[in-house]
Amino acid sequence: MTTERTFRSPPRGSSPCRLVVLVSGGGSNLAALLSACQDPAYGAEVVAVGADRPGTGGERMAAEHGIPTFVERLSGHGTRAEWDAALTEQVRAHRPDLVVSAGFLKLVGATFLGAFGGRFLNTHNSLLPAFAGVHGPRDALAYGVKLAGATLFVVDEGVDTGAIVAQVAVPVHDSDTEETLTERIKVAERAQLVEHVGRMAREGWTVEGRSFRIGG
Ligand code: GRF
Repeated sequence: MTTERTFRSPPRGSSPCRLVVLVSGGGSNLAALLSACQDPAYGAEVVAVGADRPGTGGERMAAEHGIPTFVERLSGHGTRAEWDAALTEQVRAHRPDLVVSAGFLKLVGATFLGAFGGRFLNTHNSLLPAFAGVHGPRDALAYGVKLAGATLFVVDEGVDTGAIVAQVAVPVHDSDTEETLTERIKVAERAQLVEHVGRMAREGWTVEGRSFRIGG
């Protein structure tokens, strides 16, 4: 979001917040959301899961839960803009209140952000603005930081640059490898995602430029 834009989640009444979750991989964040959504008091339901490639663990998991799934491959379209428009329509068809990228490894474009700006979350495995991009834990280790972590943010036009919803830190141990650090981050990341999506679902949220807050 640029500094001037404001988004306020509309009041939803008593119906659960409709989540569409986008995945590219194993889907451990999706699993955590699905588990939280079992409790009606959580205030949200996953109404669809979308992927950018067939055969993801996330898609399988959704199908096992009886949740509608869709796949929109970039390679199935002549241009990135066409893919972005097709993805937008797939997501729109499920009338989401909130869209969550849970390890979705594609950058969306202007059409998608025009439709879902202010209500599209991503979780990234570094303490932004440090170590944006696809190798957060590897880059954090290489730099020698003593604290790593995860950032939940509202997606904007940049790469991992949107307004920050929440951050959680974990220690980096001398013995860490990329794998052990990634795993430690993921545990904290999942808890953070579940907590904040639930609060947003129950209490609403506001984005004003770079500032995010729960509530109106
Ligand atoms: C998360 O750690 C996220 O930060 C990164 O990809 C991972 C997704 O994991 N971009 P999963 O597919 O939810 O298990």
